[in-house]
Amino acid sequence: MYSKKVMDHFMHPRNVGEIKDADGIGEVGNPVCGDLMTFYIKVENNKIKDVKFKTFGCGAAIAVSSMVSELAKGKTIEEAMKVTNKMVVGKLDGLPSQKLHCSNLGADALHKAIKNYLEKKK
Ligand code: FES
Repeated sequence: MYSKKVMDHFMHPRNVGEIKDADGIGEVGNPVCGDLMTFYIKVENNKIKDVKFKTFGCGAAIAVSSMVSELAKGKTIEEAMKVTNKMVVGKLDGLPSQKLHCSNLGADALHKAIKNYLEKKK
């Protein structure tokens, strides 16, 4: 079953939404189920000042997005690049094994948004 933390982040997801003038945007789709996740970041002084996400997916994917957004906020670009999907599952006190694939999107979408930011900066 789902941990209390997963349920909490699913019922009350943090940082849901969109940043209109985002510095970086990353969208990934899950090949297993077709679910979609988009991350928006705002960067200031090399730090992730704000982060928002939109997830069209299952409850686990929403909880994962919410946790990734919390982990990313306030971190430097380098630190945020080190957030892994495994780390996110750990912070959520685990996911049922058949839902582990749902965690694949989270850190990937964040990293993609960061790469998008770095590309734009060039
Ligand atoms: Fe698609 Fe969970 S079932 S991300």
